[in-house]
Amino acid sequence: MYIIAHGGVGSSRELDERVNAAVKEGLADDAFQTVVGVVSALEDDPVFNAGTGSRIRLDGKIQMDAAVMYKGDIGAVAAIESVKNPIKVAAKVYETPYVLLVSQGALEYARSKGFSAHDPSTEARRKELSRMHAKLHENQELHDIYKGVDGGDTVGCVASHNGEYAAAVSTGGTSFSIKGRVGDSPLVGCGFYADEYGAVVTTGKGEDIIKRLSAYRCYSLIPEMGLQGACDMVVEDHIEGSSIGVIAVDKDGVASASSKQMSQASLCMD
Ligand code: GLY
Repeated sequence: MYIIAHGGVGSSRELDERVNAAVKEGLADDAFQTVVGVVSALEDDPVFNAGTGSRIRLDGKIQMDAAVMYKGDIGAVAAIESVKNPIKVAAKVYETPYVLLVSQGALEYARSKGFSAHDPSTEARRKELSRMHAKLHENQELHDIYKGVDGGDTVGCVASHNGEYAAAVSTGGTSFSIKGRVGDSPLVGCGFYADEYGAVVTTGKGEDIIKRLSAYRCYSLIPEMGLQGACDMVVEDHIEGSSIGVIAVDKDGVASASSKQMSQASLCMD
């Protein structure tokens, strides 16, 4: 089993130990259960922007995105509110013939599967929201501020086991997000991809990653450039001034690249 996880581009390497703890907690018998378990543990750590500790939107609500891909199938949720672990809801969607459930529909589905109400907000995020509102009151246009937002944070994990690859990702989105905004994380080929060559997860400002289809691009470069070369190329080639991080796994091991520091941890076991 090869596993690599990250705590979001721009997150301090001092958080590596916390990512490592999540990797150990999430480790399971197959790649699917492992990536869901690791991302779920990262969602439960309030220091990361996913699950508990997710960013608060300008309207005061939290909307979260998550996805998992394994063996050619996908389960994803977008703009879901009031659940503890969006990745576990995505893992339930994976069991259905659907790929992506959004907003109220995703929430109703989660409740029907027994996911109880949970407030993911934290004091630190409430203070961050106050700072965002203060900035807006300084007569600055929201769209101008949003253009300057760099990085969305996200947590993610990829794993390989017995020739099968899995990718999982979860996020509370970017700062200065409005209700209904969805980034790259729940979109196949943007925030994640997994198939015969390996698995890839990205982190950064969702809008820029969507425009570049970064996860699929990285995946498609693996045969030609190797795992590390593919990760490096996607980071080098990204939109100027926009931060990106990528982690990937293939049959031979793991790789990562990022334009800024990115907390991460990996585990390679026979
Ligand atoms: N990469 C997370 C987001 O932009 O929502």
